[in-house]
Amino acid sequence: MTGPRKQKIRFGRSAHPERPTAPTVSPAAPPVDYFATRPAELPPRLDALSVQTKPGVRGYPGVDSAQALLFQTMRKDRVRGDVLDLTAMGGLLGALSGVTLRAVEGSAAALTVLHAAGLDAHAATPGEDLQERWPERARTVALVLAGDRGNAYAQAQVAWAHACTPPGGTLYLAGDRDKGFDRYVRAAGNAFGTGETVARDGGMRVAKLVRRPGPTPPQPEPETYEAHGVQVVGLPGVFSAGRLDRATTLLLEHLQQLEALDLIGKRVLDLGCGTGVIGAWAARRGAQVTLVDGDLQSVRSAQATLVANALPGEVIHSDVDAALGDRTFDVILTNPPFHVGRGVVLDVAREFIAAATRRLTPGGTLYVVANDPLPYEGNMSAIGPVRELLRAGGFKILAATRSV
Ligand SMILES: C[S@@+](CC[C@H](N)C(=O)[O-])C[C@H]1O[C@@H](n2cnc3c(N)ncnc32)[C@H](O)[C@@H]1O
Repeated sequence: MTGPRKQKIRFGRSAHPERPTAPTVSPAAPPVDYFATRPAELPPRLDALSVQTKPGVRGYPGVDSAQALLFQTMRKDRVRGDVLDLTAMGGLLGALSGVTLRAVEGSAAALTVLHAAGLDAHAATPGEDLQERWPERARTVALVLAGDRGNAYAQAQVAWAHACTPPGGTLYLAGDRDKGFDRYVRAAGNAFGTGETVARDGGMRVAKLVRRPGPTPPQPEPETYEAHGVQVVGLPGVFSAGRLDRATTLLLEHLQQLEALDLIGKRVLDLGCGTGVIGAWAARRGAQVTLVDGDLQSVRSAQATLVANALPGEVIHSDVDAALGDRTFDVILTNPPFHVGRGVVLDVAREFIAAATRRLTPGGTLYVVANDPLPYEGNMSAIGPVRELLRAGGFKILAATRSV
């Protein structure tokens, strides 16, 4: 990754470029049953299929546009038999007739959908050896490049796809022209020995590569940096992997100055932990910390950050608080996400606040840092009166305390 992933807000731009919609951001969005799976809204060419999704899955409420083109290309090629899908999302490729899907995912939200569809999906991150799970490699591998997660992540995905494809096997690689697709296909072509773009739809692309014998490219190294007394380990593709985010910086600087904030012995949740910098900072100040992320790569990054600082704490792979059992917290700290893949989506951020409402102990406080146009105050008022602690540089820090 060349720099931190920026949370750019593009109001009014749909997660589905082919279907522009009204702005996603509204002060009073209708309540969504966040954890329920539901049928995905499909483009006309796929509308005979039945595919499930839920908030938090790439492409929601539809399917990812690159994955849709991948499906069409593989259907046209009459692909049959075992297909290893390294970015399964809601399991669209399982709808290809005659295909047995080996679904791999790192997103907890997507894994929920895959399991609900009866698929024995496998949780893994780029670089993981899948041989124990499937001793015989599938002859066909599919992958959607997450160009929005930065260069290093896409490189890690390409190297992983290469390792998973047997010599003579085929990789179907999909992605977005505006997120570096051509560059990654060239890199993949060098490793595979052959490959060409075979399908185009708007900005979406699919390339087909047949693997010739040759070495697998190395996985990119994690980045490391120091921030607020924490040695941060940023794995490829993790938010702010190479440098602390500006909003997170503001939150930590502000919390540092709050004299009333004594974390010693307190149960603190870092919700959407990314590299784990906020949770590690709290652990360093004596808190008992739980770090949660829906992205498995982020979970691994946060675990590495705690280890690098010799700090105690638990790191949990969870779609918001779904895997947190009956845990409650005295303090919850978060810089919530408002992107899923290419689109601005606030369902996840709203569920972060709903989770805080469920899990704060009486007298407990939620601290949120956000870009200042984001309308979180309404949701936070379910906890208690909302205090704006700071507004600076395009960000705000909000707090709400649950009454005793
Ligand atoms: C803005 S980043 C903040 C990361 C980190 N706390 C920091 O400040 O650098 C938001 C994080 O929320 C995570 N996230 C996104 N969707 C999630 C979900 N459904 N459940 C849990 N975490 C999620 C993302 O993977 C990302 O790491």
